[in-house]
Amino acid sequence: MLGKEMVVVVVLKFRILEALPRDNGLMGKQGSPRSPRPGVQNADLSLGMKEYQCRCPETLPGSDPSIGRRMSWGDKNWNPKTVILHGLKNDSAKYSAFKGVYVGKRHLWLRKYVRSIVFMIGLMGFFLLFDSLLVSIFDLRNLQHHSTQIKSSGLKDDDRGAFINEEKSSVQMYDRLHNLASSALAEKEFKQGSSWLWEEPYRKASAWKPCADRKVPTNLGKFDKNNGYILISANGGLNQQRVAICNAVAVASLLNATLVLPRFLYSNVWNDPSQFGDIYQEEYFMNILKGDINVVKELPPHLRSLDIEAIGSLITDADLVKEAKPIDYIRHILPLLVRNGVVHFLGFGNRLGFDPLPSNLQRLRCKCNFHALKFVPKIQQVGSLLVRRIRNSGAARSMLDRQLLGNFMLDNPSNKHDAAKGPSKYLALHLRFEVDMVAYSMCEFGGGENERNELQAYREIHFPLLIERLKNSNPIPPAELRKLGRCPLTPEEAALVLAGLGFKRGTYFYLAGFQIYGGKSRMDSFTSLYPNLVTKETLLTPDELAPFRNFSSQLAALDFIACATADVFAMTDSGSQLSSLVSGFRTYYGGGHAPTLRPNKKRLAAILSENSTIGWNSFEDRVKKMIEEGQRVRVRGFGRSIYRLPRCRECMCKAQ
Ligand SMILES: *[C@@H]1O[C@H](CO)[C@@H](O)[C@H](O)[C@H]1NC(C)=O
Ligand SMILES: *[C@@H]1O[C@H](CO)[C@@H](O)[C@H](O)[C@H]1NC(C)=O
Ligand SMILES: *[C@@H]1O[C@H](CO)[C@@H](O)[C@H](O)[C@H]1NC(C)=O
Repeated sequence: MLGKEMVVVVVLKFRILEALPRDNGLMGKQGSPRSPRPGVQNADLSLGMKEYQCRCPETLPGSDPSIGRRMSWGDKNWNPKTVILHGLKNDSAKYSAFKGVYVGKRHLWLRKYVRSIVFMIGLMGFFLLFDSLLVSIFDLRNLQHHSTQIKSSGLKDDDRGAFINEEKSSVQMYDRLHNLASSALAEKEFKQGSSWLWEEPYRKASAWKPCADRKVPTNLGKFDKNNGYILISANGGLNQQRVAICNAVAVASLLNATLVLPRFLYSNVWNDPSQFGDIYQEEYFMNILKGDINVVKELPPHLRSLDIEAIGSLITDADLVKEAKPIDYIRHILPLLVRNGVVHFLGFGNRLGFDPLPSNLQRLRCKCNFHALKFVPKIQQVGSLLVRRIRNSGAARSMLDRQLLGNFMLDNPSNKHDAAKGPSKYLALHLRFEVDMVAYSMCEFGGGENERNELQAYREIHFPLLIERLKNSNPIPPAELRKLGRCPLTPEEAALVLAGLGFKRGTYFYLAGFQIYGGKSRMDSFTSLYPNLVTKETLLTPDELAPFRNFSSQLAALDFIACATADVFAMTDSGSQLSSLVSGFRTYYGGGHAPTLRPNKKRLAAILSENSTIGWNSFEDRVKKMIEEGQRVRVRGFGRSIYRLPRCRECMCKAQ
């Protein structure tokens, strides 16, 4: 199944639409500092750093607060497609505020335009490959080079919202280190691999067991008086919505309210009309939480006809501070709830802080995230297929498998021949190097003038407010940003870290996401060190993938599964929501056998600044130390995300 032949279309392209950090939300305080920062710290404008974190995107010029408001939950014919949130409300998606200004017409136009160009060039690519006459027009050698790269990397063009670009040669920032890594890998090829790579500090990690679902006597859910109904319309992508759902569960409990099954906002950023029931099992959710809060599928009839906005019960993210405290809800939301019988949270991005919070609510959040949200069978089934193909094995191996794949992880290897080779371990990598992230960081990535122009052009289209702000300040020089650890890791840097840790050349890598800036050529240095790179697009047939094609959140769910059940999970940006939630899952259910590798960008920058002198052994040592530090078994700290760091007494139990 691996190494399937690919159709080769030599078109490099960028995703514009997809790229927004659906998963780059703010999981508690620790997410923020590691995320990319623009080059300006002291801008006193209202467009400062805070808006990048989008504390108050509603006040950004150009935003129209009425967008998306006109939705009545009473309307039975409610059509999620009619709610188009130009990304402006999406305050957890950091970049959306900027992007939002343009995502409207411009995107449509751009998409159409770009699509046709991509199509044309794609067509040309085919001709180039299959028609030897045409091939002579191009540099044949170059073309062949790319074809082999693409084949060996197992990458494949994806046909969603694309932005074409002229073909580029691969960029390499660390030639010397790359060569050292290459010979080190060659040397190790036939040696015994070091096993520590695939382990966590087991004894300490395994002392923590999942127990958020344990019964503790509380009067949660047993309120004498229902204060009303809570509706939520969560925005963002899959992972951000997940956080919103569990925060809403805690808020419903806090306010003695009944929760109506969450809805997801349709936005033209994510382009995914999926609703709760398309992704999660509704009955299961209601059932697991029934002892804690009341969940109903719909508002009762007498409330359905209310104009929720007119009665003042529509709560947007502008009406609530970010990481609000229980007291904020009691003061501002409870009176509305009691008066009107219903409140509707619209957006609900990161609107409940992690501390202080009563421990029963904390526990409930944890129970929601780790126990109540099960993917629907359709997703579990294909997720299982995916994992089975990477592993060459159908055997359920861990509690993680059971949690994520339900009944679909059966012990029937899909193919006897494959099974004979024995199961293989794999590493899942979430490489957060999408064009939005890259452009926003203001860093440089070795692509010279071309890259600078391209990223500047991207910023002008998508981040007009950032551009505005830069005009009024002195940006931090790119080299300085790099030193400060604010630049997203490039594929090349990720490969160097993995090589430094001692992963062998033959290791299977599952690449999540897949919207790498610079396209395939940017992956060249990675795939020359690690050729066994697979994605959901290469592991699944087009037919198997078809039911998910138009649903970015469902595709993200497949990535979630492949990452969470991986033998090792490596992230490049710990502020990313996908990476956060996946690592939390691995901590919770992994039983000490699900290591997560988390580079510290600042330390890595320091190591790499010596790229022209450092010896390979010393590089290895320093990289190992850095990763080991990131794996220390720690209890969740104050204000930190419980979804990402579930080791705390509300969530997990520690064996003595
Ligand atoms: C919720 O109900 C419990 C038990 O009836 C009560 O003690 C608590 O004060 C109520 N809280 C609110 C916000 O109504
Ligand atoms: C996806 O969307 C495109 C265009 O919107 C449509 O032509 C196609 O049939 C859809 N595919 C699926 C599987 O729904
Ligand atoms: C690589 O090393 C050179 C020479 O020491 C240094 O100037 C450069 O900044 C380094 N590159 C990076 C990306 O740190």
